[in-house]
Amino acid sequence: HGTSKINDLGHLEIGGCDTVQLKEEYGTPLYIVDEILVRKRAREYMDAFRASGLKFQVAYASKAFSVTAMCALAEQEGLSLDVVSDGELYTALLAGFPTERIHFHGNNKTPNEIEMALDARIGCFVVDNLVELQLLQAMASEKNQQVNILLRVTPGVEAHTHEYISTGQTDSKFGFDIGNGAAFEAIEQALKQPNLKLLGLHSHIGSQIFEVEGFQMAIERVASFTKEVKSKLNVVFQVVNLGGGFGIRYFEGDTPLQVSQYVKAITDGVKLHFADIGEELPEIWVEPGRSMVGEAGTTLYTVGAIKNIPGVRKYVSVDGGMTDNPRPALYDSKYEAILANRANEATEETVSIAGKACESGDMLIWDLELPQVETGDLLAVSCTGAYNYSMSSNYNRIRRPAVVFVQNGESDLVVRRESHEDIVRNDIIPARISKQTI
Ligand code: LLP
Repeated sequence: HGTSKINDLGHLEIGGCDTVQLKEEYGTPLYIVDEILVRKRAREYMDAFRASGLKFQVAYASKAFSVTAMCALAEQEGLSLDVVSDGELYTALLAGFPTERIHFHGNNKTPNEIEMALDARIGCFVVDNLVELQLLQAMASEKNQQVNILLRVTPGVEAHTHEYISTGQTDSKFGFDIGNGAAFEAIEQALKQPNLKLLGLHSHIGSQIFEVEGFQMAIERVASFTKEVKSKLNVVFQVVNLGGGFGIRYFEGDTPLQVSQYVKAITDGVKLHFADIGEELPEIWVEPGRSMVGEAGTTLYTVGAIKNIPGVRKYVSVDGGMTDNPRPALYDSKYEAILANRANEATEETVSIAGKACESGDMLIWDLELPQVETGDLLAVSCTGAYNYSMSSNYNRIRRPAVVFVQNGESDLVVRRESHEDIVRNDIIPARISKQTI
């Protein structure tokens, strides 16, 4: 992927940086982000939308990888930003992200989160339910603000990679169902709120989607619902947000489309189905997360213990695992890896990569072909840019790795490795238990 190659020393090089040197400088485990590849993806989205002639916003779904440097990069590339918690919002604000381009998601925004977002004057709330609608109206009114909202609807399309399921009534914790009247009722309610301005509808059908049919079905359903709303309530929406979900290539068998193909399917679909609804076509918003950063990330580990069970399996343990990448344990996700310090050597054996956490479920990769592995080798797992750092944990009190951005032969630390002090930062021993008297 991206700017990776094998250099003359036989080492994996990313963004012009030798991974063996990156280990010397930063240690392992280490998340390495190919900055040029992230920028390339961002530009593919922006260019494809520009080519469509439609008005648009590409909001990076920061849940995939939310750190201040990434928010700053997203801003430089002209992206908008989707946040789903006060933590992601705080990160965006600290990075100086333009607040009018921040969109706030989530099915249970707390009063504190809403207050923080109102005070920051973010661009849009994606309202998920009636409790939130009432709360937002009350709080906006108290602050004497006019607030832009979208309503999240479930169009009855669910997509997972190759399968997309059409369900009459969606069983989901998110949003208002179009099929059972909930969405229509929410629109009626929203239109009555004096401090809320309803810009349009939002729909997100799933993640790691390889085909365009699901998006096309969702557009068709949102369009026909929009027509119904127009005929009954005489309102026309300005914005349609189609969420994220565009797939990436984790390993050989994955066959995602190119960014431009996803975007063209969406913009063509909107042109087709929304042509006769309003005077002009709606503005299109999307929220890619995984496809913006996933392929740009590589995790570098050092090989430690090796356990060979003759005739059964060879376990190769690395200095990280489910704490920095919970996806194999959680979703049975598949990853590819190579030996970064001997990237030019032919594969010789089949091994399974184990993490260091105390549970047998902590396995990163089963049955991986590698050269003869030795303790001290460097293992590079690819495609770890999305939902890895952002889903990492301190289980076993393992410290989170550092994150570096690499480009043009330079590396920049964007997240420091956690320290032991970080691990106990919030711990308190009540006096009655304490051995020390202070
Ligand atoms: N917009 C909304 C409303 C979403 O719920 C999501 C993802 C996105 C955008 C971004 O979707 P993406 O482009 O990244 O597929 N932890 C899981 C993925 C959860 C996705 C949740 N929502 C994983 O590691 O696969």
